[in-house]
Amino acid sequence: MKFLRLLVLLLVVPAYAQQGGMWIPSLLKGMNESEMKNLGMKMKASDIYDVNKSSLKDAVPQFNGGCTSEVISDQGLLLTNHHCGFGEIQSHSSVENDYLTDGFWAKSLEEELPNEDLEVTFIVKIEDVTTQVLNGVAGISSESDKQKKIQENITALTKSSPKESWQENRIRTFYEGNQYILFVIESYTDVRLVGAPPSSIGKFGSDTDNWVWPRHTGDFSLFRIYADKNNRPAKYSKDNVPYKPKHFLPVSIKGVEENDFTLVFGYPGRTTEYLPSMAVEQLVNSLNPAKIEIRDRALKVTDGFMRKDNAIKIQYASKYAGIANYWKKWIGETQGLKKSNAIQIKKNFEKDFLEKATKAGKQAEYGNLFIDFKKNYDEIAPYALSRDYFMEVVLRNTELLATGYKLYQLEQIYNLRGEQSFTDRKNNLSTGMGEFYKNFNASVDEKVFEQLIELYATKAPQEFLPANLKNADFKKLTSEIYSQSKLTSYNKFKELLSGDTKTVLANINADKGFQLVKSLADVYLKDVNPKYEEINSRIAALQRTYMKGILELSPKEARIFPDANSTLRVTYGQVKGYNPNDAVSYDHTTYLDGVMEKYIPGDYEFDVPAKLVELYNNKDYGQYGTNGKLAVNFIGTNHTTGGNSGSPAIDAKGNLVGLNFDRVWEGTMSDIFYDPAICRNIMVDMRYVLFIIDKYAGAQRLIDEMKIVGGKK
Ligand code: ARG
Ligand code: ASP
Repeated sequence: MKFLRLLVLLLVVPAYAQQGGMWIPSLLKGMNESEMKNLGMKMKASDIYDVNKSSLKDAVPQFNGGCTSEVISDQGLLLTNHHCGFGEIQSHSSVENDYLTDGFWAKSLEEELPNEDLEVTFIVKIEDVTTQVLNGVAGISSESDKQKKIQENITALTKSSPKESWQENRIRTFYEGNQYILFVIESYTDVRLVGAPPSSIGKFGSDTDNWVWPRHTGDFSLFRIYADKNNRPAKYSKDNVPYKPKHFLPVSIKGVEENDFTLVFGYPGRTTEYLPSMAVEQLVNSLNPAKIEIRDRALKVTDGFMRKDNAIKIQYASKYAGIANYWKKWIGETQGLKKSNAIQIKKNFEKDFLEKATKAGKQAEYGNLFIDFKKNYDEIAPYALSRDYFMEVVLRNTELLATGYKLYQLEQIYNLRGEQSFTDRKNNLSTGMGEFYKNFNASVDEKVFEQLIELYATKAPQEFLPANLKNADFKKLTSEIYSQSKLTSYNKFKELLSGDTKTVLANINADKGFQLVKSLADVYLKDVNPKYEEINSRIAALQRTYMKGILELSPKEARIFPDANSTLRVTYGQVKGYNPNDAVSYDHTTYLDGVMEKYIPGDYEFDVPAKLVELYNNKDYGQYGTNGKLAVNFIGTNHTTGGNSGSPAIDAKGNLVGLNFDRVWEGTMSDIFYDPAICRNIMVDMRYVLFIIDKYAGAQRLIDEMKIVGGKK
């Protein structure tokens, strides 16, 4: 009987149809709550988010703007990914004290390491303010006046909405301007490094395994939030004390099985799931290939240096990882969009959309939408491509040019705001760039430059190239710049900025590196960017109309979630393997045995620490192993994106079972086109995290402060 009911349920709403989407935590009652219960959840929506009592959301702060983290003890112990804490781990590292290579474990509170500029942000309250934000907007006909009025309303509301003195109000748009939500937030800025495994665990498999399943990475690190004696945010002080959270997550060592419910709670950064087909076409055929080619060249050069020189390896590790990460993602995304026929599926959706619009008598509003999209995407094409070349070559991948651009901005400040602002900024740069130069190697950058400047000159749209780049001798240009420019070392850089304003401006302008940046930036800021922005704001208005149409014309039960925008979201699904290709199927869990299969002694990516090999040989897994095996990673159908790294994977009852850190290769197109059949998120099994802390590092004091559940009695 029960089986029959289950069968009926499965037939009516197939489980995969209830998955995908990133939902707003304050709006889960109704459809989401019943879907989650169907998938096995035992909690109520109010256990996840509640303003009046503590709930899961109180344990899940955003980590430093770009990642997620979770509180796992009543003393503010914080868990996130190794790759999210990478910058901090690196900044405490040197060749002598190499925490990236060897790991780091504070033995007491006193040994926990403070970090400048690291903050975590909690959500206190979420409130829909659409009516207030759109108040008085309906009657305005011009797009720019409309936006102005909306901005005024947002500013006023942000000021007037109630909050405590240490908190902040932030309003964000959802569904492309069709909904507005206010967040009351509080940020803690004394966050200290507590522990990190060696990279051979925390980054095992490195870039070769990145975005790939089967995976075997212990991608975690530990921090602690400190507060003042009233438990409020305070800047670093040795008098601060461990933060007492409103809620922290118990850690389960029960493990997961196929089809178990999981909920991933975090701050997904950006998705564009409702792009029209022509936008996806442009991405697949033009923008992604250009960016991939640029990074491909930069990475090959840097990798060559890093493999030969340990100091360079430390200097460039974090930068390299960041650049390699999206390079690889774009490759996977492009392949996935092609393979899944995303463009054709979008075209069919658009045809269907138009039919529905006609039926609903809304032709006037929506009838021209795709014609207008097409016109604007065609028009923006060369500007968008030029922009990507500028961003990638000048600002992202060539450090001398990126530094030159800082001086270009400095000169602009002088032109626009005068001498005082110029001097302030100049002094800031003069001291502030020390950190940058610590990790800069001119020989590496010179080789990268030589490659990229040629790409820029030959492949970026020619109508937006400065004259000096056309038919240039790139070898000669490179050696001229790197032998003469003062941007190649911190001392020369400071020299360039010393003296009175007139001298500084004259010296900068005499610098060969600066001259090149200036010629590139002048063209970009005059001929490319303004036009790009203009067309893009038209596209944004069309996208808003399209989104409104999708919301209006779709059937009631349609699952339309707002694109990610770095706000707190809930995504849910089940533990599940997948079949990406004919005759290929993947299991949902990997084990330590797989780490040993991949082990290449001494290898840059696949080395394994001796202690871990020993624990493996002795099968010394303590309470974390099952049947002589130790789970390492698992996958599920939770719809995640960049920013979800470090997110807790929570079981049906609210316990922490996994730590999200990646997605599978065949599903990297999920930011644009989510397919529940092959899109999977990758999590570290919490038993592996605890095993490393306990058995590998011997950091028993950390295990003791957690609440561990689900163990065999
Ligand atoms: N792909 C994961 C994410 O997007 C992990 C990246 C860190 N690892 C790396 N090898 N770059 O952030
Ligand atoms: N690794 C990503 C992050 O850092 C997560 C993802 O893109 O799946 O947020």
